[in-house]
Amino acid sequence: MDTTRPTPGLRKGIVLAGGAGSRLYPLTRVASKQLQPVYDKPMIYYPLATLMMAGLRDILVISTPQDTPRFEDLLGDGSQWGIRLTYVVQPEPKGIAQAFLVGEEFLAGEGVCLILGDNVFHGRMNLDRIVAEFRHGARIFGYPVLDPERYGVVEFDADGRAVSIEEKPLRPRSRYAIPGLYLFDERVVEITRGLTPSPRGELEISDVNRAYLERGELVVEKLGRGIAWLDTGTHTSLLEASQFIGLLEARQGLKIACLEEVAYNRGFLDRAGLEATTAAMPASSYRSYLERLLKEGL
Ligand code: TTP
Repeated sequence: MDTTRPTPGLRKGIVLAGGAGSRLYPLTRVASKQLQPVYDKPMIYYPLATLMMAGLRDILVISTPQDTPRFEDLLGDGSQWGIRLTYVVQPEPKGIAQAFLVGEEFLAGEGVCLILGDNVFHGRMNLDRIVAEFRHGARIFGYPVLDPERYGVVEFDADGRAVSIEEKPLRPRSRYAIPGLYLFDERVVEITRGLTPSPRGELEISDVNRAYLERGELVVEKLGRGIAWLDTGTHTSLLEASQFIGLLEARQGLKIACLEEVAYNRGFLDRAGLEATTAAMPASSYRSYLERLLKEGL
């Protein structure tokens, strides 16, 4: 056997959709944050679409004990989109990096692309190529924002190489926040197992990123103004995300994160599959949209 042959790119994705959602109280009293609408779809459709557009078809959804059954009701086993969805519970919100531990069995020794269930990305990020070509180490993104202190922050040197990562720093060293989209090789489980929880009692994703940075194996790509990265954790940001999606959809007559359309475009569903999935929907503008696409061409 040729052991020098590189492993193929990533095949597995995780959507982390647990957490407390306390900032969205009382919206989140009975339905979790990631089930809330972003304009015309449940929030989780957007990160799921991002993973599917990246070519990932084997996806784990992680949520709370109360909400996991609701995500199962909403999304099923994924076969309607030609993907495989599985579910696992995070008993308590003990940090984003805990996803790798509760997802260890799913990962089965492979690397992963993790996306947060409340992160909305729009624009050409070439994630499909990045995922296909990913081999080793870690790859994350840096996105300029006006309020970096709310996020993990990455600092770059003059050559554009990442030199530091800090979680919610009081005095950020740059304006580059780290969005909730991360690619890690198979060592991420081992690295996470070696972490100590932070003072707030969480396994911090910034600590995982820093571990790769210290090994010289972290690539951070700056995302420019052609990319929208919205997080939807507060009432204002949730409204703004809805307005953004609503505006683009109304202008173009094209939907963002329509999972059936994404599945068809990626070749996960053939035309007969798309027709069957559409026919099973109740009368709605969502169904009419897919019927129009089937008639007029996708
Ligand atoms: P946050 O927005 O940091 O936290 P939260 O969703 O619990 O909201 P709040 O601060 O208002 O209480 O989480 C970012 C994303 O990660 C979100 O999709 C929830 C998810 N998450 C988990 O699933 N498990 C966790 O342990 C943590 C910390 C976050």
